[in-house]
Amino acid sequence: MTIKLGLLGFGTVASGIPFLLQENGEKITTAVQNQIEIAKVLVKDDDEKNRLLAAGNDYHFVTNVDDIISDTDIDIVIELMGRIEPAKTFITKALEAGKHVVSANKDLIASHGKELIALAKSKNVAFYYEAAVAGGIPILRTLANSLTSDKVTRILGVLNGTSNFMLTKMVDEGWSYEDALATAQKLGYAESDPTNDVEGIDAAYKAVILSQFGFGMTIGLEDVAHKGISTISKDDVALAQQLGYVIKLIGSIEETPSGLYAEVSPTFVPKTHPLASVNDVMNAVFVESIGIGQSMYYGPGAGQKPTATSVVADVVRIGRRLKDGTAGKVFNEFSRETTFADLSDVKSSYYFAIDTPDTNGQLLRLAEIFNSESISFEQVLQHKATSNSARVVIITHEMSKTALENVTEKLKKVSDFTVRNTFKVLS
Ligand code: HSE
Repeated sequence: MTIKLGLLGFGTVASGIPFLLQENGEKITTAVQNQIEIAKVLVKDDDEKNRLLAAGNDYHFVTNVDDIISDTDIDIVIELMGRIEPAKTFITKALEAGKHVVSANKDLIASHGKELIALAKSKNVAFYYEAAVAGGIPILRTLANSLTSDKVTRILGVLNGTSNFMLTKMVDEGWSYEDALATAQKLGYAESDPTNDVEGIDAAYKAVILSQFGFGMTIGLEDVAHKGISTISKDDVALAQQLGYVIKLIGSIEETPSGLYAEVSPTFVPKTHPLASVNDVMNAVFVESIGIGQSMYYGPGAGQKPTATSVVADVVRIGRRLKDGTAGKVFNEFSRETTFADLSDVKSSYYFAIDTPDTNGQLLRLAEIFNSESISFEQVLQHKATSNSARVVIITHEMSKTALENVTEKLKKVSDFTVRNTFKVLS
């Protein structure tokens, strides 16, 4: 038997699949114990079809998805179109037709994964999406299989290559935010709308999926507090350096005594922490657990061959399970009731940059406000901001999100204090 694939889309990642099937064909065929063949490829229109044929891509291109869905010879549909629609409709049709589906679509899986997983289960077919989180890093299968005997307590991740590339250039080479974004777009790292990259939304989608695999809890995008990198100033970058940190956009999911808390935020990472050395477009997922302790999974979070490698790994797994008669097994078996953390249980240190009048008694006023929320200072630094104002920089000891909200409100009410920025500090 030959396992036949139907590809939805033939962009950067999809066009990496033939390379792997050819270069690594023997190993893949041995693992699957069958041949694998790309039977049909869905493209947008005849123009795209003719362009791809002229470029030497010798595939059976179709422009109507039903040519793939109604083809009973096709076993596995691979969706690499991105975005929600029409991908959602096409995957739904494929699952309803009893086809196994592989996707790399984090937006779709984070937003509608629950219903698609339920549909796949009811049809006894596979729905796998290893490539949806951190591209080439095999993190989902690692959490689902290798860490099944462990209890994960916190996952921290550099989950967006674009913003990590930008921050690396801003920190190491003093680039402006605008120059860093323009270069990331030119190099093809950014999503078509880079808002999702720089505002932490892309990383939040990945945090939603990691919550299911690491903690067995299904949360939505609206449950992930997210803040992007656009508010980081050159001054923040320089102060972080001076205080022994680098700023990274970190996705964080942790289980507190009252439940789960997930967020994406610019974070001061101690220079000694392994995540501090994850630079340029690379991604990393740092897992804290009671058994292993700390483990980090590092690699390319995007790109043709890395992402296609994860996609083909899903295909191989389905192929193998087809042979064993277990292809309907769910990707992630860990599922339990979702409970959300009380903000008083979510604790971290924070960085505050606050402008105050440069006159006597200001530090005392500031200290009184923080003390009223029982917040203790770990480091305090002051320099001149303008001729008559000072910038006071504070790194606190661990404090709760409730205390953070309260102190932020209190600081806002003091008309001659201006909070320039507040960032989480990793401890
Ligand atoms: N735009 C994404 C990134 C691609 O920069 O990480 C992979 O999801």
